[in-house]
Amino acid sequence: MKIAILISGRGSNMVSILDAHRQNKFESNIEIEVIISNKTNAEGIIHAKQMGYPVEIIPHINYNSREDHEREIIKLLEDRNIQLIVLAGYMRILSKYFVSNYQNKILNIHPSLLPSFPGLHAQRQAFEYGVKYTGVTVHFVNEEVDQGIIIMQEVLEIYPAETIEQLTLRMLEVEHHIYPKAIDLICSGKYSINGRILQRND
Ligand code: GAR
Repeated sequence: MKIAILISGRGSNMVSILDAHRQNKFESNIEIEVIISNKTNAEGIIHAKQMGYPVEIIPHINYNSREDHEREIIKLLEDRNIQLIVLAGYMRILSKYFVSNYQNKILNIHPSLLPSFPGLHAQRQAFEYGVKYTGVTVHFVNEEVDQGIIIMQEVLEIYPAETIEQLTLRMLEVEHHIYPKAIDLICSGKYSINGRILQRND
């Protein structure tokens, strides 16, 4: 399975995926073909290069429209025969045009138990709402923001005296562990989808 990882910033989820790949932790046959960043100064670019993975920078600010930028990304994905797109802190909404080209072939990780707290600053949304449990969701990307089919979730308790920064750090650890597992599941093909329900077949 040929994978592209899209980033915009720090890239810690990307690093956890690259680590799993380098340490042969994936059971499926996975090739990480390219890391794509829409930001020239994304910290993740440095990490990906240090780890020996090819990086392409396609800054959205160089394009007149979202469509023009996405067309450039799609061209790259097609040139490299990418079969699965992994969003890892990619902070741009993908257009319907992009998503329809890659139905159930784009994965995203979101720092809440969807469908609660979609969109930006999900940890803060949960924290300020006062929920006692939150979590992490890996899902397919569809036309609506953070509403695609759920692949995996993990729950985190919000401790009474905890700060938002501590919660965010603990959540990130969970993200780093769940995302490679979810990618492995999708690449293995050992699942079926019925309506919104994804069921594991292993
Ligand atoms: C992660 O916490 C990820 O869940 C979140 O951005 C962070 C990226 O960190 N994504 C979203 O909020 C998407 N809506 P990273 O660049 O270190 O992987």
